[in-house]
Amino acid sequence: MPFIEIKPGIYWVGVNDHTTDLFEGLWPIDEEGVSYNSYLIKDEKVALVDLAKSLKVDEFLSHIGELVDFSHIDYIILNHLEPDHTGVLNILWKLSPQATIVCSPLAREMVSSFYGIKERVRVVGDGEEISLGEKTLKFFSTPMVHWPETMMTYEVNSQVLFSCDAFGGYGSLQGAIFDDECSDFDFYKRESLRYYVNIVAKFSPMVIKAIDKLSSLALNLVAPSHGLIWRKNPSLIINLYRQWASYAETGGEKGIALVYGSMYGNTETMMDAIARGVAESGIGVEIFDVRRTNPSYILPSLWVNKGVIIGAPTYETGLFPLMAHLLDLAVRKGIKNKKTLYFGSYGWSGGGRREWEKLVSPLNWEIVNSVEFKGGFNSEILTQGRDLGREFGKVIKNL
Ligand SMILES: Cc1cc2nc3c(=O)[nH]c(=O)nc-3n(C[C@H](O)[C@H](O)[C@H](O)COP(=O)(O)O)c2cc1C
Ligand SMILES: [Fe+2]
Ligand SMILES: [Fe+2]
Repeated sequence: MPFIEIKPGIYWVGVNDHTTDLFEGLWPIDEEGVSYNSYLIKDEKVALVDLAKSLKVDEFLSHIGELVDFSHIDYIILNHLEPDHTGVLNILWKLSPQATIVCSPLAREMVSSFYGIKERVRVVGDGEEISLGEKTLKFFSTPMVHWPETMMTYEVNSQVLFSCDAFGGYGSLQGAIFDDECSDFDFYKRESLRYYVNIVAKFSPMVIKAIDKLSSLALNLVAPSHGLIWRKNPSLIINLYRQWASYAETGGEKGIALVYGSMYGNTETMMDAIARGVAESGIGVEIFDVRRTNPSYILPSLWVNKGVIIGAPTYETGLFPLMAHLLDLAVRKGIKNKKTLYFGSYGWSGGGRREWEKLVSPLNWEIVNSVEFKGGFNSEILTQGRDLGREFGKVIKNL
């Protein structure tokens, strides 16, 4: 993509990533892609706000080179040191001998440890400003959104908030870079939620703190470092982030996520009976096969829905391993305050249910019911499953 002027004197100079399979080495983006949005501000002084991963370096540098002479770059603002926003720093640093890195106090050490850079680093505190001429940058400390050093940069004159990871999402930019240009808003909304749960959700209290802190700012544009720039309705993505963050406490909305796995089909047959019962209760259910669906896509449903049904057989005295892995990720991501139901088949002495209880116990999941059945299914078991599904559906419906 070419560089794009997003406000007079402010340019998007980022790159689209269509080749990385796993974001953070964990979360699939092979189909969706991601963008690393970087911004160049041209005033009496020239500033870059956040950079890009060290990928497509030629494209990234050519955007900048078309707009300014590298020796005229005065400031490199690093809101966050994660290498998806700083990977090109060493090269840029060598090309821009006049430039000073601007970062938070905690980021100074990271600039040194990740890139070996110790000089020409200016630390800015919360609320501090740097004038570029007509434009002024104001810095807001927003720790743990996403790392401890994270800050956001606000351009006072144009009322643009450079929010870095916050308000970002997966999904490469498809020509359209603004919310109002985008023809598939649902895609970006879905991918913003998946990104939120995969990357940011653990820090939800800090997200709410940051949003509260910024609430008095007039916003013309919200310009995150991943995904769309919010021009038509900048508050939309902020409100979505606030809503998603609130689920850490509330446990989410009325709805059910049903995740199951099975080796020989007994647990799977029970799953269909339970899903039927849920449908009879008149509440929606999202069903995931843990064997075939990457946790990246399941975790958002666990995050959003108050009701979680887990179906998995016993495997070597414990839970079907892929389910144990999913629930371990739920623990790590802090997916708390759910109502839950378990079902699963076992061969001789069981153990799946016991491990499920153990795994979800730190998450304050209220166990509504559970059924562990021996061997194959029969009409009695399936009737029990259907009843359990219906009853669980009613519990969630009547919340
Ligand atoms: C590799 C493997 C390990 C198993 N370990 C146990 C076990 O430790 N305890 C137990 O009661 N059943 C165990 N089973 C039996 C399964 O739980 C049982 O076959 C169950 O019906 C499988 O459910 P599914 O048809 O949904 O896969 C194991 C089965 C397999 C294939
Ligand atoms: Fe990050
Ligand atoms: Fe990032």
